Amino acid sequence: MEQVPVSRTLALRHAVLRPHQRFADAAMAGDDDPATVAWAALDADGTVLAVGRLHREAPPFAVADLDPSVPPDPPGWRLRGMATRPDRRRSGLGSAVLQAAIDHVAASGGGLLWCNARLAARTLYRRAGFRDVGAVWEEPMIGPHVAMWRWVECQPALPADR
Ligand SMILES: CC(C)(COP(=O)(O)OP(=O)(O)OC[C@H]1O[C@@H](n2cnc3c(N)ncnc32)[C@H](O)[C@@H]1OP(=O)(O)O)[C@@H](O)C(=O)NCCC(=O)NCCS
Repeated sequence: MEQVPVSRTLALRHAVLRPHQRFADAAMAGDDDPATVAWAALDADGTVLAVGRLHREAPPFAVADLDPSVPPDPPGWRLRGMATRPDRRRSGLGSAVLQAAIDHVAASGGGLLWCNARLAARTLYRRAGFRDVGAVWEEPMIGPHVAMWRWVECQPALPADR
């Protein structure tokens, strides 16, 4: 798993998640933000197999409705653009991207990690500790979604030489 520029993730993201849109229209808010962090699982020859990206964004749901142990105004981190090549699915790549995002939030002070999950991907997120919040809705041209979240404790990364 490698941290990569967002631009490296766009072709796979477009092909898997937004094939009905023109490439230029599949842009997401924050793609050009230097604070947005993206990851890719790469083949030995550099082929992009799986991607995901993370940026700072407050959740659209009320934090007070969540677990009472979540602080009232937590740092919000939104996970988007999770996609694995169809021929490489179910071998752990999506989970590895997700873990890289969780580790990044932990190393950056922790906070509320959330996403708008496609229903088909709900099990993937549940296995990583995410919970549903609110009702399922239909995203036009894409399908049913549910908001999901998990708390990530602050866990500063240890210096490499320790
Ligand atoms: C979701 C996705 C990124 C998972 O990638 P992956 O590399 O297969 O992930 P892993 O191998 O770590 O985990 C596989 C899990 O993904 C989920 N999954 C399986 N098929 C799926 C599908 N067609 N669509 C979405 N999720 C799926 C299942 O929970 C599966 O676990 P299981 O094999 O125990 O049932 C990949 O299936 C994908 O690109 N799907 C289409 C795009 C999408 O739905 N992206 C997520 C948007 S929220």
